[in-house]
Amino acid sequence: MTLPGSPFLAYQGADLFLDDVPLRDLVKQHGSPLYVYSRRAMLAALAPYQRALQGRAHLVCYAVKANSNLAVLQTFAKAGCGFDIVSEGELARVLAAGGEAGKVVFSGVGKTRREMRLALEAGVRCFNVESTAELEVLSQVASEIGRTARVSLRVNPDVDAGTHPYISTGLKGNKFGVAHEVALATYRRAASLPGIEVVGIDCHIGSQITEVSPYLDALDRVLDLVEAIEAEGIRIHHLDLGGGLGITYTDEVPPAADVLIGQLLAKIDARGHGHREIVFEPGRSLVGNAGVLLTEVMFLKPGEQKNFCVVDAAMNDLMRPALYEAYMSIVNTQQPDGATEVWDVVGPVCESGDWLGRDRALNVQAGDVLAVLSAGAYGMTMASNYNTRGRAAELMVDGNQVWVVREREAVADLFKLEMLLPV
Ligand code: LLP
Repeated sequence: MTLPGSPFLAYQGADLFLDDVPLRDLVKQHGSPLYVYSRRAMLAALAPYQRALQGRAHLVCYAVKANSNLAVLQTFAKAGCGFDIVSEGELARVLAAGGEAGKVVFSGVGKTRREMRLALEAGVRCFNVESTAELEVLSQVASEIGRTARVSLRVNPDVDAGTHPYISTGLKGNKFGVAHEVALATYRRAASLPGIEVVGIDCHIGSQITEVSPYLDALDRVLDLVEAIEAEGIRIHHLDLGGGLGITYTDEVPPAADVLIGQLLAKIDARGHGHREIVFEPGRSLVGNAGVLLTEVMFLKPGEQKNFCVVDAAMNDLMRPALYEAYMSIVNTQQPDGATEVWDVVGPVCESGDWLGRDRALNVQAGDVLAVLSAGAYGMTMASNYNTRGRAAELMVDGNQVWVVREREAVADLFKLEMLLPV
C-alpha cells in the first residue's frame, strides 16, 4: 500500500512507522488523540526551497500559522529560516523558540496598534501592509515611539489560484491586499509618510495551490508594478511571493518547491529583476506531510445506510474536514489481514459536521489506532476546546527519538480562566 505525502511514513511489516517509530506504540504510551511530527520530514521539505534559492539573496519565512509548536519553530529557526507572523502571539512564540526578529515579516489585514508597537520594538524586518488605513496608523505608531517601520505592500494581483474559495486570497473579491489599480498611489503615499520606509512588495494568492501558472501570472503582475513604482524613484529591495504551495493529501501532484522556484527565478531574471532579494512564506508545504493525527477507534456502529467508525478525535482536534470538506487520508496504524468495509470516520462531538473522513475503505476494529495523514499543517493550530475537550498532546520524532513537545490539556486547564459570579 502506498501512502500519500511523506517518504518518512511507511509500513514496516504490518505496522505504520513515522521515521523509525511505530505509531501505534506512541498511543499506548502517550494516549489518544495525538499529533506526531517528524523533524526529518520538515527539514527535507525545506531543503528544496533552500537549494533553489542558493547563491542569491533570499529568506524563507516559515508561516507560523500552519503549525506554531515551539519545537517546530525552533527546528526552522536553527535551519536559518525567518518567519511570517500574523499576531503578537506568533511573534512571542518565534522569539521564545529562538527565532530572530530581524528575520520576521508581519502579515495580516488587521494588525492592532499594540501589535505594531511590539513588532517595531522587537525590530521585525518588514510589515506586509494591506491598506492605506493601516499604513497611516503604522506611520503614527512608528513616529510616536521614534522608530521606522520597513514596509512592503501586499498587492492583490487578481489571479485565480484555483483552490478552495475559503483559502483563495488573490482575487478582487477577497479582503486581502491592495488592489492592483491603486497600488502605485498607495506606494506614493507610503513614500511620503513619516516613520515609514518602503523596502519591498509582496503577494500571497492562496493556499494548497497545485499549479505553477497562477504563481507565474501573479509574478508578472507584481513585476509590472515594481517597474512602475521604481520609475517614480521609490526603491523596491525585495520581492515576497508569499506561500501557498500545495501538498499531496490523496492524489494531488503539486510542483516540487525547487521546480516552482526555478520557474519563478527564470522569469525574474528574464525581466531584469535578478538583483532583488527573494522572500517566500511557505507554511503547509513545510509541515503538512510531516505530521499525522493518531486516534483510537472507540466504537463501530454499522447501519443500514452508513457504517460509522467512532474515533476519539473530533472536529475540535482537526477542523479541516468540517470547515472545508477537506479530504485527508486515513489509514490503520496496524494493517490487518482481511477485507475492508466502507466507513464514515466520525468524532464524539455533537454535530453532524463532526467527521474526519467519509466513505473510507478500512479494515478496522474497536481499539485500533487510525492515522489521519498530512495533518502537520493547520491541524493543531486550528484546534479548539469545543465540547470542553482538551487539546491533544504533540510529539516530535527524529529517527528513533521521541520527544513530547506539548502536553495534553487537562480538564482543569479548560476553565481555569473562568470565574463564578459572586452573588
Ligand atoms: N502568507 C500569508 C500571508 C498567508 O495568509 C498564508 C496562509 C501563508 C503565507 C502560508 O500559506 P501556505 O503555504 O500554508 O499555503 N487553514 C487553511 C489554510 C489557510 C491559509 C491561510 N494563509 C487550511 O487548512 O487549508
